[in-house]
Amino acid sequence: MTKICMTDDIPEREARAFDLESGEIIFITQRDGQFYAYLNLCPHLQTELEFLENQFLDQDGEFIECSTHGALFNVEDGECISGPCQGESLTAVAIEIHSDGGIYLKA
Ligand code: FES
Repeated sequence: MTKICMTDDIPEREARAFDLESGEIIFITQRDGQFYAYLNLCPHLQTELEFLENQFLDQDGEFIECSTHGALFNVEDGECISGPCQGESLTAVAIEIHSDGGIYLKA
């Protein structure tokens, strides 16, 4: 089972990117004590979402934001609620938290 990081590495309303062995880049964010992971690919043009390192959220930390055309996505389900890919969604990555406080890729 692949460990990605510790829960402590991802503060509430912040996000961190991680390179997986598969070559995919994902990011994880925390909202209300829950952790959400998505592929770092905007469904609009399949580009990476962030312009600045680990800047995946909008200014208020409310939504995930694509820096290219400003699409906004729900943190909880990855659905685009505003922007050119409205109605499409980020690709969720299945993760699980273990008792050691680690965040793991779900096998
Ligand atoms: S590439 Fe993300 S909104 Fe256009």
